[in-house]
Amino acid sequence: MNKIHLTGIVALCMAMLMPTAADAQRIDYRVIPLPTSVSVDTTKTFALTDGMTIAYDSSNPAISRNAQFLCGWVKDEAGITLRLAPTDKKAAVRLVLRKAPAKSSKKAKALADMSSQELASYDIAVDKTGILITANTDEGLFRAAQTLRKSLVSTKASGAGSASASIQMPFVTIHDQPRFAYRGVMLDCARHFFAVDVIKQYIDMMALHGCNQLHWHLTEDQGWRFEVKSLPELAKRGSIRQQTVLGHNTGVYDGQRYGGYYTQEQCREVVNYAAERYINVIPEIDLPGHMLGALHVYPHLGCTGGPYPVWPHWGVSRDVLCVGNPETMTFLKTVVGELCDVFPSKYIHIGGDECPRDRWKQCPKCQAKAKELGLTDDGKHSVESQLQTWVNHEMEAFLRQRGRDMIGWDEVLEGGLTDGGIVMSWRGIKGGIEAAKQHHRVIMSPNSYCYIDYYQLKDHNRQPDAIGGYLPVSKVYSFEPLVPDDLSEEEQQYILGPQVNLWTEYVAYPNHVFFMLLPRLDAISEVQWCQSSQKDFEDFKMRLPRMKQLYDRLGITYCRDIE
Ligand code: ACM
Ligand code: ZN
Repeated sequence: MNKIHLTGIVALCMAMLMPTAADAQRIDYRVIPLPTSVSVDTTKTFALTDGMTIAYDSSNPAISRNAQFLCGWVKDEAGITLRLAPTDKKAAVRLVLRKAPAKSSKKAKALADMSSQELASYDIAVDKTGILITANTDEGLFRAAQTLRKSLVSTKASGAGSASASIQMPFVTIHDQPRFAYRGVMLDCARHFFAVDVIKQYIDMMALHGCNQLHWHLTEDQGWRFEVKSLPELAKRGSIRQQTVLGHNTGVYDGQRYGGYYTQEQCREVVNYAAERYINVIPEIDLPGHMLGALHVYPHLGCTGGPYPVWPHWGVSRDVLCVGNPETMTFLKTVVGELCDVFPSKYIHIGGDECPRDRWKQCPKCQAKAKELGLTDDGKHSVESQLQTWVNHEMEAFLRQRGRDMIGWDEVLEGGLTDGGIVMSWRGIKGGIEAAKQHHRVIMSPNSYCYIDYYQLKDHNRQPDAIGGYLPVSKVYSFEPLVPDDLSEEEQQYILGPQVNLWTEYVAYPNHVFFMLLPRLDAISEVQWCQSSQKDFEDFKMRLPRMKQLYDRLGITYCRDIE
């Protein structure tokens, strides 16, 4: 072999091994959820390089935290080490809050006048000077940082890990703002209990997708999971069931004691973790049904006096709180009072779903209460349904005194809702439509589009056991929460936004939680964030692999197949 030939082979091998700018995967900013507008100039790029700096207002702790998030994400996804340099005038990455009126009272008013969507909005400009992120609020800066993070996923930085790592970023201007103010995800931690670290991971996934409301379902017939300090036995004993049924109420049990609850300190930790990621935590105490966790500890609060074991199987108990017993309302106000102390959320969920009234019909105390309230069957509403409405109204007034708004499942509509109540429409969309027509605020969470405890693949052999149903990614993606055929433009204003719900009868382990969540969360995130005119399922599917790469890198389980 002559020398020239050998040199040629070596050069060829070197060329194959050494990544060049052209090898580096091009950034196209086509993330999930898709930003409102993305205008790319593919002819020009800015090279983001190891050692470049991020400038930001370090006197603002939230902005400083966001700069650190961005720094970590750029390192994780692109292998590039940026340096925090708050005052660097020549920084390649700049986080900037839009100028607000100088006077703090005017500034506060300007912010107060903005919709929640405007508060989350941001702009990103990449040009020859670098990356400029501007926003009205620190939340906007966070949302922008998430968009950059997702744009960088799987980018192979040339020389990653060496001192000269760099990636090519096409020039771009991005403007982004969510469609809906309310972008929710629910997790049932009562049927199965998940550790705080799992909740944090769930929050991380929500934040990655631009969601802003975690609905935390904390109490059930199968376990009570919220510590109430003035009732120390409640969570201690109400959280434990003696065993759990196998499969779909097969009658065969595992013989294992099962339990767990969140201390108030842990709840605060979750609230703070979520707040740093611009997510509000809405706790739910489901009342007056779904209450065996509490009735087990306080059987005198049931109509029959018990005993009431914490249920080891699935379904809805006929034993519910006795609403004719004055101690019941004292109990509820104690619990919800402490809930308000721990959770600063403007919205508090009081459940209200699936409350059988069989016991109330037979109970002298409940019937006496109905008489005292002057309730009679009006042909449309039974005495017992009006009793439940009375409980709802009591709780709503109690919450209002604390400056909170009550959310209830759509059953709360049945006896009429007072003005401030919010309806979570789950039995399809009809409850939501009716509520919006009555000018009540609505969260759209119909089981047909939003129950991610359903199967996501047709073939049951390719996925773990689920509650039933069939909710593929494509169906979640097709959801239109404003139901324009049924609601006028004015009525549509009452729809705050959509939410997906993960009930966990059949979901016992964290990996399974994320398998059920992803990528259906990707689909709902475009329903929540994107304008309906932007939505395109084929295009969405082309953008999904990059999200899957991110899940792989993070070690998060997800459903690999899409239907
Ligand atoms: C519900 O699914 N029972 C709200
Ligand atoms: Zn009763």
